[in-house]
Amino acid sequence: ETLRERSLAAIAEHIKSGKARRIVVMTGAGISTAAGIPDFRSPETGLYANLAKLNLPRPESVFDLPFFRHNPKPFYVLAKDLYPGNFYPTVSHVFISLLAKKCLLHQLFTQNIDCLERAAGIPSELIVEAHGSFATQRCIECKTPFPDDLMREHVSRAEVPRCMRGPTELDPTHCEGFVKPDIVFFHEALPSLFHDRMDLVDNADLALVMGTSLQVHPFAGLPEYVKKGVPRVLFNMERVGSLGSLADDVLELGDCDTGVRKLADELGWREELEAEWRK
Ligand code: OAD
Repeated sequence: ETLRERSLAAIAEHIKSGKARRIVVMTGAGISTAAGIPDFRSPETGLYANLAKLNLPRPESVFDLPFFRHNPKPFYVLAKDLYPGNFYPTVSHVFISLLAKKCLLHQLFTQNIDCLERAAGIPSELIVEAHGSFATQRCIECKTPFPDDLMREHVSRAEVPRCMRGPTELDPTHCEGFVKPDIVFFHEALPSLFHDRMDLVDNADLALVMGTSLQVHPFAGLPEYVKKGVPRVLFNMERVGSLGSLADDVLELGDCDTGVRKLADELGWREELEAEWRK
């Protein structure tokens, strides 16, 4: 049985009928642009278009571990702009938190490192931060954790923090290696939680994909694990990945806060959504 029509109204009906109780949400930088955080790949406003001034071999080098070991400064220039604490969750974040409140959120997979999902009140056990986050940090050499308060001070000045580990039995030197937040750089493994929770996608009865270009693997493969016949909705400026190629796909092209408000209207949740957002 496919959706009668490819529309948000049909998706809302699907949810209201009680057939969608295990909703999986997959997000990217596009859900945070309305909070004032630039995304990566948008042509004019994306971070990669604006990294030229940092003299990088390629824009992506800012997230490259060998490059970081050689020159961590560009990353810290960028980190100053991305660091959590100066931003508030968007309507899209709050909508996902509403799904959790209504016990409909099966799992959120996010590529974002801004911690706005937690700020929106989504319970941490329902979140997979596939690319890590700025919540913790450690030395890239000896892996010794680095204190949060000192990290905040360094980032606010775009200074590179260095490991403070003193001599140990095994190593008589002071470490002084560069400290990096526990975000996933290119060629680094994703957190094991990402792989552990992938089964939940297979289990979903509705998938919402929001604000991602689906350019970075393995995350970009997640929508392919949604079972055949289970509706996938894309809230994004542009069409991405294979979204739109299946009979039950719904494309809501445009800014995701507007799309989410439309869905909330169809669900009769609009007032609640706005009230939660203004809190
Ligand atoms: P991208 O910048 O690649 O893609 C953002 C997508 O969101 C694009 O398709 C935009 O058109 C869309 N978009 C922007 N603003 C939007 C809005 N208000 N409403 C709806 N759509 C909007 O960001 P990601 O897909 O998240 O890795 O990038 C994936 C990974 O690449 C990131 O996690 C990052 C980067 O390298 C790390 O940080 C380790």
